[in-house]
Amino acid sequence: MTGLKERIAAGLEAGRARSLAYTDLDDEVLVRQHSPLMSPLVWDLAHVGNHEELWVLREAGGITPLRPEIDQMYDAFAHPRGERPALPLLRPDEARTYIAGVRGRALDVLDEIDLSRPDPLCSDGLVFGLVLQHEHQHDETMLATLQLCGLPGLVRDGDLPAARPAAAGEVLVPGGPFTAGTSTSPWAYDNERPAHRVELPAYWIDRFPVTNGAYIAFVEDGGYSRPRWWTPHGWSWRARRDIRAPLFWTREAGAWWRTRFGRAEPVPPDEPVQHVSWYEADAYARWAGRRLPTEAEWEKACGWDPGAARALAHPWGDAEPGPEHANLGHRASRPAPVGAFPAGASPCGAEQMFGEVWEWTSSWFLPYPGFRSFPYREYSEVFFGEIYRVLRGGSWATHPAAVRTTFRNWDHPHRRQIFAGFRCARAATPGES
Ligand SMILES: [Fe+2]
Repeated sequence: MTGLKERIAAGLEAGRARSLAYTDLDDEVLVRQHSPLMSPLVWDLAHVGNHEELWVLREAGGITPLRPEIDQMYDAFAHPRGERPALPLLRPDEARTYIAGVRGRALDVLDEIDLSRPDPLCSDGLVFGLVLQHEHQHDETMLATLQLCGLPGLVRDGDLPAARPAAAGEVLVPGGPFTAGTSTSPWAYDNERPAHRVELPAYWIDRFPVTNGAYIAFVEDGGYSRPRWWTPHGWSWRARRDIRAPLFWTREAGAWWRTRFGRAEPVPPDEPVQHVSWYEADAYARWAGRRLPTEAEWEKACGWDPGAARALAHPWGDAEPGPEHANLGHRASRPAPVGAFPAGASPCGAEQMFGEVWEWTSSWFLPYPGFRSFPYREYSEVFFGEIYRVLRGGSWATHPAAVRTTFRNWDHPHRRQIFAGFRCARAATPGES
């Protein structure tokens, strides 16, 4: 096999190891729907195999369908999450057998395929890149389900670097143009394309994501009881659900506690806050006299190298993510404290833009100028509009194979079960820039 094929095979294996580890549970846990927001875990498990069958086996490999009768059941558009538990889903043992059978044939396709052939789906191994990123994305979704179900014992303890006493505050991003999006990153999704020039005035952005400690100051200053900090939609969402703190937080004996994978613990003040909705992030920013960054501001602060006048693949450069750069890939089941990854700083000095938490931006999920859907409309195009807000970066649960400075995630502004937090920004005054 060539180097690219070996990397693809290793990437596929890494995703599968996660999927199997997260579903190494009793059948009863796998088939139950733990929240109406999430699929039963066994649906995710078979769905990643079905997606791989559709794209690698049938589209790229031209192989006769293995289980065409189950396609509809695992089509995310045919059945919203709430309907999935009522479907005659493959049982956990059937699902494992099915995805293993698909994987065996996918590796045969990989062995035989010419990755230099002039076919946009196959060149540079794109179809495999899409499939392995898709599996990692579902692995992160499975972790969110496991956090929601709150079973004890599912937490993974791992060492993370300690907090570093560092000047928090903000970093200045000078005004001027930069290149947003990409036309060359081989495994980028359609919504990241094409590269285009964006002119931004100077602005300040937080060096670190907002911490639990800073967020507690907002909560204790009556942040959840004053409509002035909230958008009208945000306030009515908060009031309807009587939201008073981030998801999984409780107040006990004068202290804030959280539940993490079934384990209760004091809220650590140095960690980035997570499990907040866009509405909460937006309200905090207004309370703090700031605002959320636009996604263009976020991307420029993350990846633009003004010296080289080009966008970097990662904040620290083009080197693949290493343990010194960012808290990615579920090393531990939590964000690392702020200041833990100085080697992962971006050219403007912002830190921990990858790992820790997905970061809400103020932007709606919209197409870039010149967008063309590929390879199918349902990946991105059907989600465009003023419905979803863009999140950037990647969380502690995101695999390094699925992070790029140009990567765009999106979700409803009221979602909180995802591993999302935020950082703030503000315009620079003429004297500051
Ligand atoms: Fe999917």
